[in-house]
Formats: sequence, C-alpha cells, structure tokens
Amino acid sequence: MKLAIVGYGKMSSAIAKAAKEFFSSTDSQLFVYTPSSSSADRAKEDLAHVQICEDMETLCSQADMILFGVKPQMMLGLLDTHAQNLKRKAVISIAAGLTSRSIQSVLGEDVEVIRVMPNLAALVGKGMTLISEEHTLSDEHLAYVTDLFASIGRVKFLPEGLMDIGSVLSGSSGAFYTVFVEALAEAGLRRGLKYEDALELALQNHAGTIIQLQEGIDPSTLRVDTSSPSGTTIEGLIALEKTGLRRAMHEAVEASFRRCVELSKQ
Ligand SMILES: NC(=O)c1ccc[n+]([C@@H]2O[C@H](COP(=O)([O-])OP(=O)(O)OC[C@H]3O[C@@H](n4cnc5c(N)ncnc54)[C@H](OP(=O)(O)O)[C@@H]3O)[C@@H](O)[C@H]2O)c1
Repeated sequence: MKLAIVGYGKMSSAIAKAAKEFFSSTDSQLFVYTPSSSSADRAKEDLAHVQICEDMETLCSQADMILFGVKPQMMLGLLDTHAQNLKRKAVISIAAGLTSRSIQSVLGEDVEVIRVMPNLAALVGKGMTLISEEHTLSDEHLAYVTDLFASIGRVKFLPEGLMDIGSVLSGSSGAFYTVFVEALAEAGLRRGLKYEDALELALQNHAGTIIQLQEGIDPSTLRVDTSSPSGTTIEGLIALEKTGLRRAMHEAVEASFRRCVELSKQ
C-alpha cells in the first residue's frame, strides 16, 4: 500500500512511529507532506524510507490512501482545495468532530472516506481507535486501515452517531485521568510522601485496577471488595461522593462532547 500522511503533528506522528513494524511487514510505502521543515525533518528521523513531498499535489499523485493529520478547523477547507487531486483515492480522517458525511460531501462520491479516532496511547502500543461504521472504503482498504490501527492498540467500530461521545471517552479521558492521579499524588505529598513515591504508588495501583476491570470485574464489585466494614476506603469513597467527583466527570465529558459538536459545525 502507498500511504501518505498530511501534517506530521502530535497524533499523525504517533501513529506513524507506533506502526513502523506494521509498515515494514506490509511493504507499505510512506509519503509525508507537512508545511514546516522542522516537522519534515522529524518525519525523516522517525521513519525509514519515508518520502517527503514538497507539496500536496505531489503527495496525492503518489499515494493510494491519505491520512489527514491536520486540525479539524482547517480540514474541510484543505480537502476542498485538493478535491481534484484526491479523486479515486482513499481518505482517512482523524479530525475530532468531523462527520464522515461532511468529508464525503466535500470530496464527492468517487473518493473513499473513513473517519477514525485514534489516541496518543498509540505511542506505547496501547491505543484505542474508533472507526465509524459509516465509511466508503473498499474491502481491501478497510482491512488495511483496521490492521494498521490494530497494530498500535485496540480497534472498535461504532455507529457514526456515537463517534463524538466515543472520542471523548477514548481520547480526552486520558487527559482527565492525569488530573486524577496528579491530585492523588499531591494528597500523598501533603501527608508526607515524596511526590515521586506518591505518584508511583497511585499509578501502580491504577495499573492493577485497570487490568482487573478490563478482565471483566464490575467496578462496583471491585469497590466493595476493596472496602472493609468500617474501614478506611469506605470513608474515602464517601468523601469522594460528597465532594462530587462523579458529577465532575459528567461535566467534563459533557463539556468535551459539546466542543466536539461545535467543531463539526465550524
Ligand atoms: N492530539 C490528539 O491527542 C488527537 C487525538 C485524536 C485525534 N486527533 C486529531 O488529529 C488531528 C491533528 O491534531 P494534532 O494534535 O496532531 O495537531 P498538531 O500537532 O498541531 O498537528 C497539526 C499538523 O497539521 C499540519 N498542518 C498545518 N497546516 C497545514 C496545511 N496547510 N497542510 C498540511 N498540513 C498542515 C502541521 O504541520 P507542521 O507541523 O509542518 O506545521 C502539523 O503537523 C486533529 O484533527 C485532531 O482532532 C488528535
């Protein structure tokens, strides 16, 4: 497959670096167009045999599939400008909030379009990529995209209407999580632990908890199992409920979701 990447920023570079083995095992040819020379240099350092293209026209003429790693606000304008060059190509969008239909309507019917939503955990091979069920890829291209993202973590297909909320849970929630562990570590620091020790304890506990939850233990069962009668954990849990952690999570998810919807309208 000849795969091109437009914009070598945080997310697209994370995908490209994490999928290096996949690219070599599938004999993929890689092309990158990114406006700044600093990002182009990074791509050359990161990826063996990548061909850096001078402009979009060259990139489009070389590739079968083109992954756009640009900001959502500029995505539709960029597609519109290059619509002629993209005819009969397959376009992979990772842009937050942009529906498959809006992309397809700019490009027309003779372009294959797929909307995927990866996350930065791809960098450590633990990505979660959502793929919209509303796509127009050929079977061969769909298999390639699915295998590419499966090589850097998990892949889940979702109906288009659930992609925005799914993106918040699989994308933004990692950042929410950093606030949670940081607050725990600070609370340990307050009571005498060194910050690095407190962070290590919190993270190791989380790692174990997450594995148990991923293995299928229900969160409420695990919570009860961790809480002894009249013990320490139940006191902490009551304090969490009183101070409204659950409500804060709902607010955070709703705010991110609303922004996702706003972006799709810009
Ligand atoms: N970051 C995440 O966690 C994440 C997760 C899921 C999805 N996404 C999606 O990924 C996309 C990129 O986000 P990001 O965080 O990676 O942003 P980013 O780091 O700012 O990267 C944006 C890239 O766009 C390039 N660019 C700017 N103008 C361009 C143009 N006219 N033509 C071609 N390329 C151009 C930039 O090139 P230069 O570097 O050369 O200036 C830059 O490499 C967004 O649509 C976002 O919704 C991001």
